[in-house]
Amino acid sequence: MRLLFLLVAVCTSIESYKILVYNSKYGHSHSNFLGNIADLLVDAGHDVTSLIPVIDESGKDGTEKSKKIYVPVAQETRDQITEIYSQRSDFFKLDNYNPVLTWRMRDSFARQFLYQCRAVLDDVDLLKRLQNESFDVMIVENFDMCGPAYSHLVKPKSLITSSASFPFSQMYAEFGIPISLSYNPSPYVSRLNVNSMWGRITNLYAEWLLNAFFHPCRWMIEELFYERFGPSFPSLEEISSHSAYTLLNSEPLIDYAVPTLSRVVNIGGIGARKPSPVNKEWDEILSRRSKTILLSFGSVAKSIYIPGDIKDSILKTIARFPDITFIWKYEQPEDEFAKEALRSLPNLHLSKWTPQNDILADDRLTAFITHGGMGSTQETATRGKPGIFIPLFGDQPRNAGMMQYNGFGVVLDKFDMINPDSFEGAIREVLNNESYRINARRISSMLAKKPFTSKELLIKTVEFAAEYGPSKALRPQSHDMTFIEYHNLDIVAVFAVFLILSLIATKKLCCFLISFCIGTKKVKSD
Ligand SMILES: *[C@@H]1O[C@H](CO)[C@@H](O)[C@H](O)[C@H]1NC(C)=O
Repeated sequence: MRLLFLLVAVCTSIESYKILVYNSKYGHSHSNFLGNIADLLVDAGHDVTSLIPVIDESGKDGTEKSKKIYVPVAQETRDQITEIYSQRSDFFKLDNYNPVLTWRMRDSFARQFLYQCRAVLDDVDLLKRLQNESFDVMIVENFDMCGPAYSHLVKPKSLITSSASFPFSQMYAEFGIPISLSYNPSPYVSRLNVNSMWGRITNLYAEWLLNAFFHPCRWMIEELFYERFGPSFPSLEEISSHSAYTLLNSEPLIDYAVPTLSRVVNIGGIGARKPSPVNKEWDEILSRRSKTILLSFGSVAKSIYIPGDIKDSILKTIARFPDITFIWKYEQPEDEFAKEALRSLPNLHLSKWTPQNDILADDRLTAFITHGGMGSTQETATRGKPGIFIPLFGDQPRNAGMMQYNGFGVVLDKFDMINPDSFEGAIREVLNNESYRINARRISSMLAKKPFTSKELLIKTVEFAAEYGPSKALRPQSHDMTFIEYHNLDIVAVFAVFLILSLIATKKLCCFLISFCIGTKKVKSD
């Protein structure tokens, strides 16, 4: 009996908070980021509920430990997903800078969120239930913007906004962070020469295009909430501006140094799992040659769909390195292409699935060829391996660029992959230049010894927000300023008017003086 009391006393002495995580299901990296946050908060003793509006049924929940409430996929959402998949372009040939593609894809991309958001709002009982829970904290990502808007109805004590990557496009305004485009590369940009005017113009263009792409994701949701709750419903920026904290999946030690705010907390690599030693099968593969390279394009852009000419170029490149084992994550190692490739290349190993994190942690792995998804770049850095980064879409160009900038290896343009000479050159550069290996080791050891781990930062930040709510001191006043005020355009205008008036006055005065002088001369000569 005494023991029981003691147990109860111990358990209640840790403050347990009620936390809601809005984690819609549509993309692996997003679900994984928010799901890991939910699970870590459960581990820390909190009562965590994940609200999961299902957009893409083929996705994963991301969370295993929190309580889950699903909003089943609506028929119109499902139709929209089918449409998006049918027009999904070939990632290896897609030109990110093409405005026609942006305009063609942006509305259907936004509608998946809009339709499922309607389904969330249609469930009136759900909202009542969530309001009755009186959550201490609600965590949303500013990507499916239904989450931030819905938070205004759920009314948690604290709202926490987030990004499963670095912040991008409208998020800067929503989080209140200056975007600093002259030296902060836009997600589509992997090489920004800050001293080149052309480089900065390209960066501005890329960001403009990205903003255009995500614009419907904002206005469609805002329209929906105005329709349902009247025109006085706050804007998405207004709601986000009152968040207590912003969590970013960004690791400053491998990123670019850019402006931030005190309420922005970087919890990069929050999803990183502890590596375990590889099993017997992988042990044998890693022992075949003195060097091994892992090649993976992630889960979204599947290797089986790589266009034939690029696949051939990859094989030609691998054939030029007979002393190196290549492990290629290839989804159908039994298809015709795979069989033929394996027959002709003894140094190639194809695998449907690879224990990426464990292989990266193995000393025998020499380098990693990756698309540069945020998860993969963070794993590369944590495990201290050099890489060849071949960005395909989304935030990958910037991720790849920041890895090169921080000395982890080189970026290879995906359009250069078709040329085995370029591909070979990139691999040789990373193998032969020691600086990448040394640098990767050094940063990996810095990451391991950071003063505060991402997990600690996450838990302490959420608990602090749960206890005190948002702090006025942390909210920049820029949120309450108009565009004109923020950029001091009113001052510039007044100054310009003053300058013009003085110029006119000066000119008038000069004319008067000149004509006066001439006039008096005339009188004299007369
Ligand atoms: C190795 O790479 C670094 C970083 O790109 C570069 O500064 C250095 O000159 C390279 N060294 C050689 C020998 O090519």
